[in-house]
Amino acid sequence: MAAPSPAAAVHYDPTLERIEIELLLEGIYRHYGFDFRSYAYASIRRRLWKRIEAEALGSVSALQERVLHDPDMMNQLLLDLSINVTAMFRDPSFYVAFRNKVVPLLRTYPFIRVWHAGCSTGEEVYSMAILLAEEGLYDRARIYATDINEVVVHRAKSGIFPLDRMQEYTENYIKAGGTRSFSEYYTAKYDGALFKQELLRNVVFSQHNLVTDRSFAECTVILCRNVLIYFDKTLQERVHGLFYESLSTFGVLALGSKESLRFSKYEACYEPISASEKIYRKVR
Ligand SMILES: C[S@@+](CC[C@H](N)C(=O)[O-])C[C@H]1O[C@@H](n2cnc3c(N)ncnc32)[C@H](O)[C@@H]1O
Repeated sequence: MAAPSPAAAVHYDPTLERIEIELLLEGIYRHYGFDFRSYAYASIRRRLWKRIEAEALGSVSALQERVLHDPDMMNQLLLDLSINVTAMFRDPSFYVAFRNKVVPLLRTYPFIRVWHAGCSTGEEVYSMAILLAEEGLYDRARIYATDINEVVVHRAKSGIFPLDRMQEYTENYIKAGGTRSFSEYYTAKYDGALFKQELLRNVVFSQHNLVTDRSFAECTVILCRNVLIYFDKTLQERVHGLFYESLSTFGVLALGSKESLRFSKYEACYEPISASEKIYRKVR
């Protein structure tokens, strides 16, 4: 069910609202280089209105005026627009499939390059580092973890996660086929869980925008989970093109549970490794 519109949005002429939103997104792109022009409209609209109400601004144009003249407001809006929800061993069945079906393939490589595109605050990256370490593959891996949002990349680097989520993460880890005691991987500090720095030895974090930045070379695995759902069809297709260019032949692409390659012209270039877990292998 669609979320209800914020109160102020209800009184808006939808045609005018669309014009103002398009102008705002165009302005953001031209002034700051962040391209949200092809993000799913309904979701962008909802998020913009939340910010307009939080700042007591009253119109999209008033928000445009603020954003274009105030880089701090742009940073705030970046957090609003790029939904950062994530978890360790999110969708544990995905990690079970990865262990059972992808790890045996990775064992045949002397060196593997893994790219987490849209890694948010890094929970997915630490999960993969743990999995690869347990499977004896970490030492031959280089993990690139990127996100459009500098603030979350910075948090990801810190390796500190909320202590109150450790019970949920421990359960996920066990369901994901984890073989140790999860608490071995972190030390509790006040209300945070500080993860072992050893897990970051082969990880490189950086800011990267899937819409405007270039591809990465010769990746063995690309994970881009729960990111494409926020893009419209045209933008999804562009990003699929970027992944196709970035993957080596027989490389593995992992998408989120609500995402797939269906209806993409790249669909024929992949074979499913696990259709239910949205894991594919580039075959041509
Ligand atoms: C919902 S989180 C997904 C995090 C993680 N992959 C997961 O599945 O738990 C979506 C992430 O995509 C990032 N994102 C959105 N647009 C992006 C873009 N154009 N380039 C790179 N990252 C982007 C957001 O900043 C956010 O951190």
